[in-house]
Amino acid sequence: MPIEIVETIEETRAAVARARLHAQSVGLVPTMGALHEGHASLIRQARADTGCVVVSIFVNPLQFGPHEDLERYPRPFDADVRLCERERADLVFHPAPATFYPPGFRTAIDVPGLQELLEGASRPGHFRGVATVVLKLLNIVRPDVAYFGQKDAQQFRLLEQMACDLDLPVGLRMCPIVRAPDGLALSSRNVYLDPAQRQASPALFRALEEVRRLVEAGERRAAELARLARDRIVMTPGARIDYVAVVDFATLQPIEILHGRVLVAAAVFFGTTRLIDNLLLEIP
Ligand code: PAJ
Repeated sequence: MPIEIVETIEETRAAVARARLHAQSVGLVPTMGALHEGHASLIRQARADTGCVVVSIFVNPLQFGPHEDLERYPRPFDADVRLCERERADLVFHPAPATFYPPGFRTAIDVPGLQELLEGASRPGHFRGVATVVLKLLNIVRPDVAYFGQKDAQQFRLLEQMACDLDLPVGLRMCPIVRAPDGLALSSRNVYLDPAQRQASPALFRALEEVRRLVEAGERRAAELARLARDRIVMTPGARIDYVAVVDFATLQPIEILHGRVLVAAAVFFGTTRLIDNLLLEIP
């Protein structure tokens, strides 16, 4: 079956309804396009788990701040469709902004307690935009499972909370971070890096790997681990730390001593490009 590309909510609902008629389960991979191997890994997981795989491509204006890169965010739509084809997705849903947010659109989803921390502290309004658009996508596609990357671990945690609080009949699945050979987490924003910044950028991953090694060696003091990561990143030419945080993954609150599910998350500027990465640890 050739891949189907649709732009309207009605066509999307109709295509999913046809899959349901054939008793197929439905998987949704929400994206903003500029697809890379990180996105591909989510589509592959959806392909393995479900009968009908829907990929949404929508650069969601609601989740960009006034001084962020909404206008220049890459939109290589044809290449994106080819990647979806290669990964054997069934449907690409590519709505126009006016389809999602017609004049008079008002409703927003807040997840207070999670949305203003870490990424949310640096990007006010970001997670309100994410939660709102993801709820719309879930309501339109009504998938059995929706797939997200650990790359955006806070995003996943927040969406999981939303799904739980609003009794959404969907399973959310978090897939591992896909990296370039030198460790840099793949991101649609990596194209903004100039060659020197690109060369320096794996410092973020290497700092997190050092944290992992220290934890494996028995270190449990969060402040020590954060200090080590900061020291490593500060040594890198051109890197400017936005935050390094060691938090409980459920609450995203800072911890002093590592236990349970711990998220070590960092955001670092290389020039004007802000990169994020993280480490999820399970401490017995
Ligand atoms: P986007 O940045 O396009 O990412 C889409 C999905 O791909 C997210 O779940 C993200 O965590 C995952 N992803 C990105 N890079 C990855 C990598 N290197 N390895 C594994 N997964 C990776 O996240 C968004 O779009 C938007 O906020 C969205 C959820 C679509 C709502 O607009």
